[in-house]
Amino acid sequence: MPNDQATADFSTKPTLTGERVILRPFVEDDLDTFRAAVADPEVARLTGSPVDDAPDEERMRSWYGSRNAQTDRLDLAVVDRASGACVGEVVLNDWDPDNRNCNFRTLLTAAGRDRGLGTEAVRLVVGYGFESLDLHRISLEVFAFNPRARRVYEKVGFVVEGVLRQVLRDGDDWVDATVMAILAPEWAAHRGHPERRDS
Ligand SMILES: CC(C)(COP(=O)(O)OP(=O)(O)OC[C@H]1O[C@@H](n2cnc3c(N)ncnc32)[C@H](O)[C@@H]1OP(=O)(O)O)[C@@H](O)C(=O)NCCC(=O)NCCS
Repeated sequence: MPNDQATADFSTKPTLTGERVILRPFVEDDLDTFRAAVADPEVARLTGSPVDDAPDEERMRSWYGSRNAQTDRLDLAVVDRASGACVGEVVLNDWDPDNRNCNFRTLLTAAGRDRGLGTEAVRLVVGYGFESLDLHRISLEVFAFNPRARRVYEKVGFVVEGVLRQVLRDGDDWVDATVMAILAPEWAAHRGHPERRDS
């Protein structure tokens, strides 16, 4: 067993500042954003979650109210610097301390999409994962009907590793998911800008 396990400090919840977004720990007012997000059928479809148009208030409060106390995962709100509004979240979860791996997931509400916020938010949190949490690998799955998310992950340097065939039932269709991951040495080489490494 590696002797450097469990050194990552997931209990510290940082504030990470970019040009377009600030990633910060959740505050109570963020709940409005996530109430809307869980009721949004597009978010549900793209993230593979059930639509919940009548989210249980206590459950939501308890979930978002307890994220800052978690010691084995990092959940941060994505704030649009142009408006000051919380427009989504980025999450490093499923931490495997022995192998220094995490899963990554994210969602932005409609107000935050397609303006470059997601790309910057992913770069910021992935950079934090490698540079401050000493992760070795961050992986994710993206559905075939979500080319926007896949493009963002490719821009940040996630590499396609394989396809999970027909893992999702979408109406009458079966949908594949692509497994993507980025490794610490890759991050060190390009810091979220793989195109620069090639130049
Ligand atoms: C996925 C998500 C985080 C991306 O963030 P975003 O701020 O919308 O994305 P950005 O504006 O930073 O970048 C989008 C990129 O995808 C490209 N794009 C947009 N729609 C596209 C499409 N249909 N096909 C291919 N590329 C597309 C854009 O052109 C842009 O790339 P470019 O900078 O090279 O032009 C956000 O859209 C989101 O949360 N969506 C809903 C939930 C979701 O899909 N979560 C991820 C589940 S894996």
